[in-house]
Amino acid sequence: MAVWNLGSINADLVYTVPHLPAPGETLAAQELNRYLGGKGANMSVAAARAGSHVHHVGAVGADGAWAVERLLEYGVDTRYIGYSSDPTGHAIIAVEAGGENLIIIYPGANRSLDAHEIWQALGNAQAGDTLIIQNETNAQVETARLGSEIGMRVCYAAAPFDAEAVKSVLPFLDLLILNEVEARQLQEATGSAPADLPVSDVIVTLGSKGAEHFDTKTGENRVYPAVPVTAVDSTGAGDTFTGYVLSGLDRGLPMAQAITMATRAGAIMVTRHGTADVIPDLKDVLEMSQG
Ligand code: RIB
Repeated sequence: MAVWNLGSINADLVYTVPHLPAPGETLAAQELNRYLGGKGANMSVAAARAGSHVHHVGAVGADGAWAVERLLEYGVDTRYIGYSSDPTGHAIIAVEAGGENLIIIYPGANRSLDAHEIWQALGNAQAGDTLIIQNETNAQVETARLGSEIGMRVCYAAAPFDAEAVKSVLPFLDLLILNEVEARQLQEATGSAPADLPVSDVIVTLGSKGAEHFDTKTGENRVYPAVPVTAVDSTGAGDTFTGYVLSGLDRGLPMAQAITMATRAGAIMVTRHGTADVIPDLKDVLEMSQG
């Protein structure tokens, strides 16, 4: 099977700061690093490093050839990434000691995807393939609907969170992944707790506490504890978790095993500085399991 990702691609400009800036504050960064990022690109790289065949559907601007080349180098199929007249998306990310961050995104080409090119790309997908969508591109609802019609496992990572965006794709979803705060916000917007949502599987990530899976078909839920580590940068850890869960499911692992692997991959990720470029591969995750 394969993972298809309607996903953002960003240049991440990561500023190491003594503390996250307060409103109105001017702050000198201690360091600046540039990485490949975007929640979509991060998930594609994570799923590819976890062992899946990944097709990324997205766009960059004329300034984005480096990002496409890097995705290709990381094992992602880039044939369905188009070139837009808008510039490549970018993110300004401040990271303080201890790993907490603050992110501003400029969507650029990520929000000008051509619907026809998406339909053409998904024309090559098969029933049973996995489709992942996040909230950093346009055409989310139409793509989720098409994926559902094809018979794909349709997944949504509700980040950056917007309750209306989640509500619009809900009818087409098989799997929803969101964090604790987002789950509460979604409950306020829909009146439904995670266990009552009309989606077969819901995973709520709990940060340093791990993740909780709700199987809404059986009514069962299970908490997967986090692996204790010393965090230096939480950026991209959620995307890494999502990519690993999807890859696990796509490769036929049971949900419990997919989430356990994803929890370990996310734990390794918070010990590293950077985004897509530093996502752990399966070997790192398996070594952690043995250690
Ligand atoms: O989740 C982290 C990502 O959010 C970064 O890579 C940044 O580009 C933004 O999309």
